[in-house]
Amino acid sequence: MLFPDYRPRRLRQNEAFRRMIRETHLTVDDLILPLFAISGQNVRTPIESMPGHFQLSIDQLIKTATSAKNLGIPAVMLFGIPDSKDPLGTRAYAADGIVQTAVRTIKDKLPELVVITDVCLCQYTDHGHCGVVEGQTIDNDASLDLLARTALSHAKAGADMVAPSDMMDGRVAEIRNILDENNFSQVPIMSYAAKYCSAYYGPFRSAADSAPQFGDRRTYQMDPANAMEAIREVSMDVEEGADIVMVKPALAYLDIICRVREEFDLPVAAYNVSGEFAMIKAAEKMGWIDGPKVMLETLTAIKRSGADMILTYFAIDAAKALKA
Ligand code: PBG
Ligand code: ZN
Repeated sequence: MLFPDYRPRRLRQNEAFRRMIRETHLTVDDLILPLFAISGQNVRTPIESMPGHFQLSIDQLIKTATSAKNLGIPAVMLFGIPDSKDPLGTRAYAADGIVQTAVRTIKDKLPELVVITDVCLCQYTDHGHCGVVEGQTIDNDASLDLLARTALSHAKAGADMVAPSDMMDGRVAEIRNILDENNFSQVPIMSYAAKYCSAYYGPFRSAADSAPQFGDRRTYQMDPANAMEAIREVSMDVEEGADIVMVKPALAYLDIICRVREEFDLPVAAYNVSGEFAMIKAAEKMGWIDGPKVMLETLTAIKRSGADMILTYFAIDAAKALKA
């Protein structure tokens, strides 16, 4: 098709035509809101680098979750900030831990809202790593039992879905097993399957107080330079029983989302991470970009690349914008 026989502008000349040929539709159904739970009452500690986000005590978290639910957002992803840390992250799998308590309260007050829990140890370990530390290394196999116990404790508290973000090898199978053995075979696993070792997690680590106290996460999270390896990571998680596979971060990894969408037939989630959110908010604050427009363009791009759902700190803003 060549000019002047074909003129692409014909179908762009008015909004009705543009609506008719639009290929990607972002809707509120696509959005998952991450929330940070902390102990106390009436606590709303602002997260400096994530404007509009707070460490929330459970009474406050319920208010935000209620707004999300009322806007039609189907799900939240819960992160916990514990009162104390230790080498084995014991507060991650305590029945009275912060996430477990928050899940029970949300499911009691807002039963229809889907609660997904992030399963990891890094907020709970004093060294800040996502697994058990042996000397200077992270012991993969010793971490599996603790991660599985964490997932089980979330399911017992009423979590609708668990989402392991640790990147230890074999953790999806371990979690599937422990859930099935304990009558939670109906609880799905959303695995952080292709999770990269990314500098875009910076704001999250100060929000969740989960920065590693020595070294970095390069021995377990993926090298940003690798794409084929993402396919291997995702196929392992699929075979181990993942129900939804996630690519994280989203924006710098749209090619990975696209490949995972093409090669697997499970739902694909993308995590629009803290640093991606912070960059847009910062540029908006400087007056350099139109924040709301860039937000919608970004989320649409993530969906267009192949994501079926998007974890995003923009969930509430986007749900409002999509309503208007
Ligand atoms: C914990 C975890 C991290 C994020 C989600 N779960 C941080 C990390 O792996 O260092 C990042 C989320 C974000 O940046 O928004 N394993
Ligand atoms: Zn972690």
